[in-house]
Amino acid sequence: MADITVRPMVVADADRILAIYQAGLDAGNASFEITAPTWAAFDAARLAAHRFAAVDRDGTVLGWIAVSPTSTRPVYAGVVEHSVYVHPTAQGRGVARLLLDTLIASTETAGIWTIQSGIFPENTASLTLHQRAGFRVIGVRERVGRHHNRWRDVVLLERRSPTVT
Ligand SMILES: CC(C)(COP(=O)(O)OP(=O)(O)OC[C@H]1O[C@@H](n2cnc3c(N)ncnc32)[C@H](O)[C@@H]1OP(=O)(O)O)[C@@H](O)C(=O)NCCC(=O)NCCS
Repeated sequence: MADITVRPMVVADADRILAIYQAGLDAGNASFEITAPTWAAFDAARLAAHRFAAVDRDGTVLGWIAVSPTSTRPVYAGVVEHSVYVHPTAQGRGVARLLLDTLIASTETAGIWTIQSGIFPENTASLTLHQRAGFRVIGVRERVGRHHNRWRDVVLLERRSPTVT
């Protein structure tokens, strides 16, 4: 872990970020999406202040995390939804936890009070990751969407910051 650091995501990371995104989608338990977006669409949908990349000693991007707003209503201004993706060859080494801890610190500093996520029940790695990082399960949405022609459930999780009051 000492050789892995987290830094803000930059435009030069775009191709690698989207390739890691696509690898996660191809594995089948990350999201309803089938194809990673273009960089323009990715960029437009995510808050610039809370995007991070984990890199190894050589500067190779191993994973990323980013958040999107959940609503335009002022009351929900401090509620965001995040995505976290780690390259298949870098999984199981604590990269996602490092990214998530960085995101939690960054959003709390900015006054964001809730981070939420929807996770397929089959994605045990992601469920474990998030619960260890302080997320709680709100509940399970049953057969809420179709993925590769199959109805799938989604577990809703959130982390309410104890420090943003
Ligand atoms: C889910 C994902 C981000 C986890 O990344 P990772 O870097 O391998 O996770 P970490 O190594 O940081 O592990 C974090 C915690 O989850 C646990 N965990 C990781 N993989 C696990 C697995 N396959 N089964 C059970 N627990 C697992 C670890 O034990 C660790 O807990 P600990 O800190 O108490 O030891 C990664 O598997 C991934 O990118 N998957 C494809 C994309 C995806 O599904 N993204 C999430 C969408 S909701």
